Amino acid sequence: MRKVHLITFGCQMNKLDSELAAEALADAGHILVADEAEADLVIVNACSVREHAERRVLSRLARFRGRRESENGFRLGLMGCFAERDGEALLAALPYLDFAVGTRQFFRLPEIVDRLEDGDCGLVLLSGGTESGPGVGKAGPRRRHRGIQAFVSVMRGCDNRCSYCVVPDVRGGEISRPPVEAAAEVRSLALAGAREITLLGQNIDAYGRKDGWSLAGLLRLIDAEVPDETGLVRLRFVTSHPRDVTRELAGAVDSIPRVARHFHMPAQSGSDRVLFRMRRGYDRAAYEERLAMLRKEVPGSAVASDFIVGFPGETERDFLDTVNLVETAGFQNIYVFKYSPRPGTPAARDFADDVPDEEKRRRNRTLLAVQERIGLECGRRLIGTRQLVLAEGPSPRDPDRWIGRTGENRVCVFPSPPSGEDWRGCLVLLKVESATHLTLFCRPAHDGSGEAAKAVPNEEDESWL
Ligand code: 5AD
Ligand code: SF4
Repeated sequence: MRKVHLITFGCQMNKLDSELAAEALADAGHILVADEAEADLVIVNACSVREHAERRVLSRLARFRGRRESENGFRLGLMGCFAERDGEALLAALPYLDFAVGTRQFFRLPEIVDRLEDGDCGLVLLSGGTESGPGVGKAGPRRRHRGIQAFVSVMRGCDNRCSYCVVPDVRGGEISRPPVEAAAEVRSLALAGAREITLLGQNIDAYGRKDGWSLAGLLRLIDAEVPDETGLVRLRFVTSHPRDVTRELAGAVDSIPRVARHFHMPAQSGSDRVLFRMRRGYDRAAYEERLAMLRKEVPGSAVASDFIVGFPGETERDFLDTVNLVETAGFQNIYVFKYSPRPGTPAARDFADDVPDEEKRRRNRTLLAVQERIGLECGRRLIGTRQLVLAEGPSPRDPDRWIGRTGENRVCVFPSPPSGEDWRGCLVLLKVESATHLTLFCRPAHDGSGEAAKAVPNEEDESWL
């Protein structure tokens, strides 16, 4: 039996895959260790969406070279998107790497470890395949979970072909999990202590479209099958493609109190010319129309977005269109990425990466500075309001304070609860006292009796706002 340490890079889907891999290994009798020095098998789960991520992974792998060469029995493996895309080449290039396992095969890790023990292979490569499906080869819901937040993958892969994106290559086409199975997993995680569950899918609004299911229907099913008594207080979902966000989905978000009024709906650019070359399937006006629909159908909702700067051919004028979108859209938060050509993608094949890195960096900084101003204005407007916050625990930066999040995904910092009280996983009612562009600084809001309110008010009742 091995002592296994997992290192994860990348998105929430990768983090979830690491949890599932850990569970499969634990089920097979291996021991998971938090300290990599104790491990005799290290598995790096790596992302491939941008070149920068791959470089970090390579240097992380190289740090194990010495141990692989000097410690008898130490083994090193790679899983995830990077393994799927480049596993074969990496195995050939890195003599200290023992195996690479792709995004749709990692549930077979116990088998791979057995083969390592048999010494028959040293190197194993498994890529492609669809047999794992979105449940990653697991028939039933997961049993192990710690912490108040949990992720549930409801669909995997993506059928879009945005010209810059490697996801369809490394994660394959869309496969959705049956609603009943997804709801059962949410229920079992809630019963195991999860208070906030995030449904994951690369393009989650397309959930079930090939099978006659919908995300709105799934949210309603989960709401019915996972009653309040299980302890589930919040349900989220990411990531939304602007083209697939429907009025029906907005209606479900608006009408189910436990569904967070938050959408992560990446625009990627504010320029029609760039959006067309990105093959996003919408133009600026269509994006703004979706945004207006969400704001109307889900009052008070917050929208976060992703942007790529320095896409091939992006002129200063195109970039200013993006700046203008950020100035007018009122995003809760944005994530900005410098374009990174990914081998095998249409953009890398058809267009020269012609925006110099220094210019990409300038555009990145500029866009973030614009959002910082907008975020600060939004935050200041919330001063004096009361917010229902899911308490997560002590702030990693300041042990005297706690952090939590609003349904709109705003981070709140507040004084630690009185000693002896553990508010982790509780909804607390807080009053906003000051704000930066990303954080709201709060105090407990008091009800008439002077007690800090810890109850769960009816979110449809606006009197507490
Ligand atoms: N270069 C830069 N950013 C990218 N993203 C995806 N592919 C690339 C790429 N080749 C960004 C998109 C996506 C986020 C997860 O990563 O903005 O929404
Ligand atoms: Fe990539 Fe586009 Fe699919 Fe998102 S929608 S995963 S950006 S191809």
